[in-house]
Amino acid sequence: MSKKKEKTPEEREKKFFNSFDFFDDEDEDRHADTPSGTSDGTLEMDLSSVNSKKDRDTQHGKVLAGISTTTSLPFFEHKILMKQDTHECGGHLWRSATVLMSFMENTTHFPPQEDGKSHWYKKRIIELGAGTGLLGIALAKTGASVIVTDQESLVPLMRENATLNQLSETDVTVDKLSWGEEDCTRYKTEKIDYIIASDCVYLEFTFEALIETMMDLADASTTIIMSFQKRRKGDNRFWRMAGKKFEIKRIPLESYSNSHERVMINFLTKK
Ligand SMILES: C[S@@+](CC[C@H](N)C(=O)[O-])C[C@H]1O[C@@H](n2cnc3c(N)ncnc32)[C@H](O)[C@@H]1O
Repeated sequence: MSKKKEKTPEEREKKFFNSFDFFDDEDEDRHADTPSGTSDGTLEMDLSSVNSKKDRDTQHGKVLAGISTTTSLPFFEHKILMKQDTHECGGHLWRSATVLMSFMENTTHFPPQEDGKSHWYKKRIIELGAGTGLLGIALAKTGASVIVTDQESLVPLMRENATLNQLSETDVTVDKLSWGEEDCTRYKTEKIDYIIASDCVYLEFTFEALIETMMDLADASTTIIMSFQKRRKGDNRFWRMAGKKFEIKRIPLESYSNSHERVMINFLTKK
């Protein structure tokens, strides 16, 4: 039997990026966003009446600039409550986060532990660019040891959401972490099992800094889970840059969602 010729790194990279179905901003109207999840806030609004591109991109189009609602999302046996603050980009619940949240509960990649506890129980996790803190807070509710981080302006909202979910400062750590600007050694006292980043690939000028922070935090046994919403061809550059430092495994779309075809999930491990 003839041995399959191994691909060069360049060929693998090319194959990887060819499999991405990127489209320009002008193409966006091809994709109608539909909200999911439930809101127990007072504001009830049909997504079709939300006109701005930014609002269409978010998970919950019910939120208008300057108005906050509290949303409830299921995660294992928990109901995760999230307040949004639309003054900040990170104050929205983004579709990447809710798709990833559902994946983290349902995929066979993260099977329950032998004693029946969730895969995440006691795992040490850092979330980057956490925004509302949804993913980290949800994971902390399952007993994971979590640090949720974002830029300073998002720290109060993440704290408020931790409190809303009855998590104390010992249950979940909320911290300011600006990519590329800070020394990450304070987080490295123990092994980090997972780094999570949802919808953090969208500003070209931050790509290098984000990769630098991921490199600082991860060691060989850390898995970085990134969900990513396809928007601009320029975002390709991030994956090319990241591919030089990390092995990137793309999770096939059909294994987590058919209806959110613009969100992709990748696992990255240090080369
Ligand atoms: C599109 S939002 C995603 C928020 C959240 N992860 C989600 O999926 O709902 C991108 C997040 O990245 C954060 N971010 C952007 N640049 C950053 C930087 N240089 N350092 C840390 N966080 C940053 C923003 O503050 C924001 O919360």
